[in-house]
Amino acid sequence: MKPADLVSRIGSNAALDKFAKPLKSKITDLIPGGAVKDALSGTWLGHQLHPMLTDVVIGSFTSATILDLIGGRRAARSANVLAITGVLAVAPTAASGLSDWSDTNGSETRIGVVHALSNVVGASCYVASIIARRRGNRVSASMLGLVGMGVMSVGGYLGGHLTLVQGVGVNHTFLEESSQDWKAVVDADQLEDATAKVVADGDVDVVVYGSSGWQLAVSKRCTHAGGPLDEGTFEGSGPNVCVVCPWHGSTFRMRDGSVVHGPATVPQPAYDVRVHEGKVEIRSI
Ligand code: FES
Repeated sequence: MKPADLVSRIGSNAALDKFAKPLKSKITDLIPGGAVKDALSGTWLGHQLHPMLTDVVIGSFTSATILDLIGGRRAARSANVLAITGVLAVAPTAASGLSDWSDTNGSETRIGVVHALSNVVGASCYVASIIARRRGNRVSASMLGLVGMGVMSVGGYLGGHLTLVQGVGVNHTFLEESSQDWKAVVDADQLEDATAKVVADGDVDVVVYGSSGWQLAVSKRCTHAGGPLDEGTFEGSGPNVCVVCPWHGSTFRMRDGSVVHGPATVPQPAYDVRVHEGKVEIRSI
């Protein structure tokens, strides 16, 4: 059986929901939308924070284990420092990962919970490894590190699968092409006051919002996880209107697509809008 087949089985194992669903609801209560969620999501960074922090944990632990195995006595202190660095980085890494995970559904949630459990077990091995070091038992410390590294590799594989295969954390509009040419998309008299209208720009659905006096437009598909922005709520008035995604509450300024609140980290593709000869025309900003 290929590793990907095993991951598919995890994703379709509804038994995991018994554990995953209550945990997800707890995390959502603990990290609601707001400044903390934005910080953990990486809204300030321009992409997700979690993958950067995992590099610190995995890099430190792996380096510690390699030094334990082939570094000799002189590397013992460095290995110890690296193992402690990895353990210290676990809390913020787990917090950012749990925040991201709480926005997933279905198979993503199931695979994510196994990813998290693998990492908890792996990190626990490194905690035990540090204790063994303190007791002067470097052989046990090395073996515990080796086991921890193996278990965390499983967690890393699952994390990679979530991102690279299932698109968790990926900008969901990255394939949308921009065009600087004005394009007529709808008759101006079809726009109702303060009502979202979905129009097509080639293969891309665009939400036009406004009235005969002013119009704003952004891509319909939320950059965060693909939520339908036309079903969201529209706040503010005139050129300051923001759209709030119905799925996880990301808020985008419609005039330029900028992220006001996460968990989105990437701005929404936005459009210049004008009315020309009775038609609403758009072009990418
Ligand atoms: S899909 Fe998550 S905030 Fe829009």
